[in-house]
Amino acid sequence: MNDYFTSRRALIDGFLQEFASRLGAPHPIDRPLQRSLASAGKRVRGILTLAVGEAVGCRPEKLLPAAAAMELIHTSSLILDDLPSMDDAQLRRGAPTLHREFGEDLAILSAVALLNYSYGLVSSNHATLSPRRWPASQVIARVVDAVGWTGTIGGEAVDLHSEGSTLDFDTLELIHSRKTGALFVAAAAVGGMLANIDSARLRGVETYAKNLGLAFQITDDVLDVVSTPETLGKDVGKDAQRLTFVKLAGVDGARKLSAELVETSLAAIAPLGPAAAPLRELATLVRDRVK
Ligand code: IPE
Ligand code: IPE
Ligand code: MG
Ligand code: MG
Repeated sequence: MNDYFTSRRALIDGFLQEFASRLGAPHPIDRPLQRSLASAGKRVRGILTLAVGEAVGCRPEKLLPAAAAMELIHTSSLILDDLPSMDDAQLRRGAPTLHREFGEDLAILSAVALLNYSYGLVSSNHATLSPRRWPASQVIARVVDAVGWTGTIGGEAVDLHSEGSTLDFDTLELIHSRKTGALFVAAAAVGGMLANIDSARLRGVETYAKNLGLAFQITDDVLDVVSTPETLGKDVGKDAQRLTFVKLAGVDGARKLSAELVETSLAAIAPLGPAAAPLRELATLVRDRVK
């Protein structure tokens, strides 16, 4: 991991830690919430929010509530994704999945609670920064679209029921861009909008995030086949019943496609110049990641 990634991850972890220490949640939902906030995620989506803001001149500290919100949304999607009725996973972020440790009831409630709170974090961050070009309603709308049936939830539903569907590029792209790409796009857009980005640059960073999100999920499918639970901190082989790019193109073909998408994402931010260095670092990390 490079220095940029490590330092921004530490900022987000610090925010989440402080947030977890003053939740005010009653027993027995307090511990599962605290556990899920403290778990060792890479914080890629939160870092994306910070990096886009930085590319348009906003200090990362100012965007921490929104960055944390992206991680709350992501964490909630993983808790649901791991449930017995979904991927039935045992291991997440190097620890037992939330439902295994606290039961399915508290895991579901925790996921919904995290998702719910994320909107409050984005709107309070908007109130603090008051970006001239972007009213709160437009920023929140990006988040709503990313989470809902046009985004993660829609993608997860299609993914879970994809058995027997045609394995072709368009179907796969639709599933992956909804279940993973949509939150990448929202994380980038929210960081930019709160930093008062202009429309032309916003389009560039959204194209960057869309391609990066797709590349990220394709690599995830590769790692599900070639890596181990020890390295990844989560179950492997879970995608066997799903439609994946590995099934379509093989491990090498999927890796190549992922690398091409990273190149496309880099091309989209070329006009941002040197200020977009953090976004280039992030793209390199996604390209080379082994966990
Ligand atoms: C895992 O995401 C789920 C996918 C969308 C591929 P990450 O690999 O970012 O998971 P954490 O947050 O680091 O655990
Ligand atoms: C990622 O899907 C989950 C979401 C985008 C909500 P996967 O099921 O492919 O990811 P892992 O392998 O469990 O992290
Ligand atoms: Mg899944
Ligand atoms: Mg899964």
